[in-house]
Amino acid sequence: MAIERTLSIIKPDAVAKNVIGQVYSRFENAGLKIIAARMVHLSNSDAEKFYAAHKYRPFFKDLISFMVSGPVMIQVLEGEGAIAKNRYLMGATDPNKAEKGTIRSDFADSINANAMHGSDSLETAAIEVAFFFSEVDVYSR
Ligand code: CMP
Repeated sequence: MAIERTLSIIKPDAVAKNVIGQVYSRFENAGLKIIAARMVHLSNSDAEKFYAAHKYRPFFKDLISFMVSGPVMIQVLEGEGAIAKNRYLMGATDPNKAEKGTIRSDFADSINANAMHGSDSLETAAIEVAFFFSEVDVYSR
């Protein structure tokens, strides 16, 4: 399988629950390397730009107000099949439908406050990584 990079966000609910370390352990135990990371309190305009693809969805307003409600922890993960691996570790978008033992099943409360974001394809991953990190921020090994 190819080595990929993906963007991961630990959302305000999970940051407030103080589980950044537990989430990072899951990444590392699954063979994913954290090659860039930063904590940010997003502005409305940042969040709206990042989630522009969802602009006309009925949940957009709630999504934006949730994403600016507190700091988020943003990281680039690298590893074999990183995009699918990260999505497997997160579990389904709706924590009520997420498999037991996944991050969302363990730490999320609702489809809006769902603890994590992860890129869903190679194309989106490249766009999302570039949204938050410049080339010099991403550690190459
Ligand atoms: P995320 O992976 O960050 O991408 C878009 C987010 O919109 C999603 O996680 C959810 O947190 C949020 N959202 C809220 N309601 C819905 C919904 N009905 N369907 C999909 N995503 C939703």
